[in-house]
Amino acid sequence: MTNRFMMAALLILGSMFVAPQVLAQANCAATINATDAMRYSTTNLNIPKTCTTFTVTLRNTGKLPKAAMGHNIVIAKTSDMAGIDADGLKAGIANNYLKPKDPRIIVASKLTGGGESATIQIPVARLASGGPYSFFCSFPGHSTFMKGTIKLI
Ligand code: CO
Repeated sequence: MTNRFMMAALLILGSMFVAPQVLAQANCAATINATDAMRYSTTNLNIPKTCTTFTVTLRNTGKLPKAAMGHNIVIAKTSDMAGIDADGLKAGIANNYLKPKDPRIIVASKLTGGGESATIQIPVARLASGGPYSFFCSFPGHSTFMKGTIKLI
């Protein structure tokens, strides 16, 4: 084996180890805006399976106070959305319109008013089995419009 061949082989081997790390670092975060028009800026979240946690920053770009037009982001199974929403309404604004310690909620942000932001960390392993999963706002009535699908890519 020549030195040149050895070098080429080492380079190829090296790139095999480096590539997955580059992938893992790619795009494990997203920002979603929420508006006074009761909308998120996206209706789909693509989450790479290679991410351990996926960070979502919710930016409430509106001007209205949270008691009038509050927005949060809740991650759950799509089939659990209606139940979480109904119990959140009963829990009231003091609980960010979420039933405390609701086991159906994978992760949820605080309720934000205009100009505020909140960040959540989604444990991606929790999405790998079951589903489909969605994100939505649990402020009463908002999930009709403020919802989206989660796609594992
Ligand atoms: Co909302």
